[in-house]
Amino acid sequence: MKYPKYLATLFGCLFFSSIASVQAQESMQAVQMHAFGEPEVLEVHELLVPSPAADEILIRVHAAAINPVDTSIRAGRATGLSGAALPYVPGFDVSGVVTRVGSSASAFNVGDEVFAMLSLRRGGGYAEYAIVKNHEAALKPESASHDEAASIPLVALTAWQALFDTANLQAGQTVLVHAGAGGVGSVAVQLAKWRGARIIATASDYNHDFLREIGVDVAVDYRTQRFEDFVDEVDVVLDPIGGDTQVRSIAILKEGGSLVSIVGLTPEGQNTQRNVNVTSILVEPNGEQLQHIADLIDEGHVQPIVSYRFPIDAAPQSHEQSQTRRTRGNIILNLD
Ligand SMILES: NC(=O)c1ccc[n+]([C@@H]2O[C@H](COP(=O)([O-])OP(=O)(O)OC[C@H]3O[C@@H](n4cnc5c(N)ncnc54)[C@H](OP(=O)(O)O)[C@@H]3O)[C@@H](O)[C@H]2O)c1
Repeated sequence: MKYPKYLATLFGCLFFSSIASVQAQESMQAVQMHAFGEPEVLEVHELLVPSPAADEILIRVHAAAINPVDTSIRAGRATGLSGAALPYVPGFDVSGVVTRVGSSASAFNVGDEVFAMLSLRRGGGYAEYAIVKNHEAALKPESASHDEAASIPLVALTAWQALFDTANLQAGQTVLVHAGAGGVGSVAVQLAKWRGARIIATASDYNHDFLREIGVDVAVDYRTQRFEDFVDEVDVVLDPIGGDTQVRSIAILKEGGSLVSIVGLTPEGQNTQRNVNVTSILVEPNGEQLQHIADLIDEGHVQPIVSYRFPIDAAPQSHEQSQTRRTRGNIILNLD
């Protein structure tokens, strides 16, 4: 059958415009590195939206967090830990909306608002779309914005796995949280408060009012004071600092007490002769724990702390801020 020429032209236009719209839907903006190095290696590129495998969901990311480990990977210092191969899209914390669900059973549906910590071996969070394994995600706390929710997973799971899974912190015990105003420290303080512990935390004096607001009983300025002068012995220490701070902290542990480091053990820590537990951990994704943390946020026990927000094209500046190691709470890359 012969069609009039104008119909062929019309069909042709519709065909190509539908391909163009599918292609437009399938591309996304992402921060991608093509070299390890200074923050300027973080460039915005147009990439294809990834497809979820059977046990995965695809989410439209509204916010991603910037963690210190991201800056280490970018600088080429943590490739063993992450296996990062170039080109590489950094980012382990995301909050967004499920847009596709893989073929195997999932607790999540298209349209669900979720947040997640992505595997340290994978990353991919600094992008408009990200792949999340089913077991990495949890429903976003309803009371938190995407920016606030994205600030939580990696730091809160670190604090949870250090204080509860490893040190078995109990109500009535005393815990020393170093860097209590930082990303991990500020959530650790709030989780320890919820558990019913007494909390001593270190921070610069300009952060002491903040520490008391989130539940710290005794604030110590590590730059001008010695924490040993404020406490005789503690049950648990959370150590995001290492070095001399770690060695001095082991000395004030009670018999049978626990120090959990998140920055590795010193030789003194590895070989301590004291009857104490000294452990180093690496955080792992855990959707179940994250759901519990989401509930604690909605119940008002844990408040997400976001100090800085950057748009996608300011990723280098977000890393510069992280590298100051003076951030209260966390830093967000907003992808709206
Ligand atoms: N092993 C793991 O699984 C794991 C997981 C998460 C993080 N980490 C590591 O843990 C470390 C902390 O992470 P983060 O996200 O909490 O970092 P962060 O948010 O960048 O920490 C910033 C805070 O550190 C404080 N600080 C800096 N030097 C200090 C010192 N000597 N004593 C006490 N406080 C000090 C600052 O307090 P002031 O401004 O008050 O001075 C600031 O509030 C990083 O090295 C990170 O890579 C490891």
